[in-house]
Amino acid sequence: MTAGELDPVGPEILDGHLYDYPAYYDLIFGSDCAAETAFFEDCFRQMAQRPVERIFEPACGTGRLLYRLARRGYSVAGNDLNPHAVAYCNARFERAGWDPPAVLGDMSDFRLRRKADAAFNTINSFRHLDNEKAARNHLGCVAAALARGGLYLLGLHLTPTRGPRDMGESWTARRGHLGIVSNLKSISIDRRRRVEKFEMSFDVYTPTRHRRIEGILEYRTYTLEQIRRSVESVPSLEWVDTFDFAYDISQPVVVDNLTEDVVLVLRKR
Ligand SMILES: C[S@@+](CC[C@H](N)C(=O)[O-])C[C@H]1O[C@@H](n2cnc3c(N)ncnc32)[C@H](O)[C@@H]1O
Repeated sequence: MTAGELDPVGPEILDGHLYDYPAYYDLIFGSDCAAETAFFEDCFRQMAQRPVERIFEPACGTGRLLYRLARRGYSVAGNDLNPHAVAYCNARFERAGWDPPAVLGDMSDFRLRRKADAAFNTINSFRHLDNEKAARNHLGCVAAALARGGLYLLGLHLTPTRGPRDMGESWTARRGHLGIVSNLKSISIDRRRRVEKFEMSFDVYTPTRHRRIEGILEYRTYTLEQIRRSVESVPSLEWVDTFDFAYDISQPVVVDNLTEDVVLVLRKR
């Protein structure tokens, strides 16, 4: 069966959260890695005030980005709350003959033994932190983990206070006989409680089966003013520039109340 064929019976529903299926997650989100890592390296060269050799990723998931950075010669480490993702990440490094870089851990409560020259957290992982204390703790932990002049690249969607907002996205990916169609749809937003709910599904196709993993993702919302206040709560982080998910260093963006996707470049003072 392929993604384009009709399925008269309907898919078999798999248990668990999307993040419990790292191989599928990685296939879907692996495609953008080259643009992201090239952008990171541009930022390291142009905005870090120190050479970047050691990199940390809070909420590293499957390690899709850490792995590519390790192949480019960086020393990398990360943490994540999901044991399946951590195991997947470490197994991938071990297959390459490298030390496992990921530990089970909370991005709002961690310490590094050796400071990093750069850290990053893209595609909204930060928005999993569901309250201001956790968000500020996270930024504080990152600041403490960075050496002076080091960078933190933080990517998230803001909630515009005017104009339309993004309601969802769909991606497809294929490897051999495995095809995946992923859908993410915003189903509600509560601006007062700062919660946006998304329906997310992976439809997984092999020649003989159609399976689906579905679930609800809850993300905390941030307006421009709200993210500004969170960042300013950690005085040792300076907001030096802003880009968007086009990951183009030659195109910094001016953030206003209509802006949605942003990558903040924060530097440790
Ligand atoms: C959208 S995925 C991104 C994974 C990876 N950063 C990437 O770019 O592919 C979000 C990840 O955040 C992790 N996560 C959520 N809350 C967390 C927390 N408090 N501490 C650490 N990881 C967390 C999830 O387990 C998941 O792997």
